[in-house]
Amino acid sequence: MKERSSFNSKIGFVLAAAASAVGLGNLWRFPYLAAQHGGGSFLLIYIILSVTFGFTLMVAEISIGRKTKLSAIGAYKKLNKKFAFEGVLSMIVPMIILPYYAVINGWVLKYFAAFISGEDKAAAADGYFNAFISETGEPLVWFLICLAGAGVVVFLGVTHGIEKSGKILMPVLLVLMVIVVVFVLSRPGSLEGVKYYLVPNVKNLSFKTFLAAIGQLFYSLSISMGILISYGSYMSKKHHIESSVHQIEFFDTLVAFLAGLMIIPAVFTFSGDAALSSGPSLMFVTLPKVFASMATGRIVGTVFFLMVFFAALTSTISLMEAVVSNFIDAFHMKRSTAVLITLAYCGVLGGLASLGYGPLSGVTIFGMHILDFMDFISNSVLMPVVAIITCIFVAFVIKPGAIIEEVEAEGSVFRGKKVFSFIIKFVAPWFMILILISSIMQALGLFKL
Ligand code: PFF
Repeated sequence: MKERSSFNSKIGFVLAAAASAVGLGNLWRFPYLAAQHGGGSFLLIYIILSVTFGFTLMVAEISIGRKTKLSAIGAYKKLNKKFAFEGVLSMIVPMIILPYYAVINGWVLKYFAAFISGEDKAAAADGYFNAFISETGEPLVWFLICLAGAGVVVFLGVTHGIEKSGKILMPVLLVLMVIVVVFVLSRPGSLEGVKYYLVPNVKNLSFKTFLAAIGQLFYSLSISMGILISYGSYMSKKHHIESSVHQIEFFDTLVAFLAGLMIIPAVFTFSGDAALSSGPSLMFVTLPKVFASMATGRIVGTVFFLMVFFAALTSTISLMEAVVSNFIDAFHMKRSTAVLITLAYCGVLGGLASLGYGPLSGVTIFGMHILDFMDFISNSVLMPVVAIITCIFVAFVIKPGAIIEEVEAEGSVFRGKKVFSFIIKFVAPWFMILILISSIMQALGLFKL
């Protein structure tokens, strides 16, 4: 049997996991959700959930992977045959996310192309984004370029090389974000936005904020997708799981926080607070306006969209790698067959998601466009289901002690073990059930928040 390769250093593990965690979730999804759901209130709830639920579930998944040295399907089966289905369920989540993730990756590439070719002022005009996504051919072409690009990397099996490049690009992305943040904050009127983003307001606190924050947390940290189990399976026993989780969470939240600090005050300055509710288009509509008003806006914008593009592409690649390696493990396929099947189904589903804002915009499922529905099913339904089963599995089948033992391997100290056991047994399962029921009822129109 082939020896399972492993990360050589703890920082290598943290950076690889962070490079996969940082993506469109942080740069595109977090700011628009924060803008829609009360700014400071959303931020506060997000951080609280991150150090409690996020921490607990990440520790559980990484430990399951390291304990079994297997990916999700094999890992659950090895620990308890009856729970093999949990591995399959968690494999479906990245399968649904991948196609629409690649569509948005395509939008980012389009914006990069627009900036580099001097169309940056046009991109800042009202209506540019909507006109673009409601076309038929162009968004499809950008999507297919991203999908095919990721396909080539995954086919060649060089994803680790790509992740290494992420380690150089991540710091560059951070520096660029800080530059844009400083520029945005120096604009008159931005203080209003900073206040909205940083100061929690009880008026904006609602159950809906919780729903949005927990969905975002899972998405951003790649929880309940089987991915952390695979990462854990490559982690050495010498390295400390608890502090790795803290570092990954810190880095991921920092990038999301900066993205919000860049975009939300900019919305106030350039579009007024009415634009806060604009949703997924926020990054594409507001940022070009910020760049247009900077003297060096075209260059900063070009480099910025290039960085976002790489962050998104590394995530598309790691999502695809997760899907392909699951196909290989579960159906004993050749890598090339698995890649071709993945490209084929993603081409169809992603194509539909892309057309869902154009010729198929009349097609809605529970009132959602196709892409939004795919986001809803994966984030608001399947992820809570997987999380509930993971909690039940750890709390009552293998018992929290099994995870604690793994975290404490080779003399490591697990400082948060009491918190971990308490949350996984008494809080997380009930909370997740509540989340699941309310998001389904909301979608069916049975419940209005
Ligand atoms: N966590 C990524 C983001 O926030 O964009 C999304 C993601 C990437 C999920 C890679 C899963 C994955 F394997």
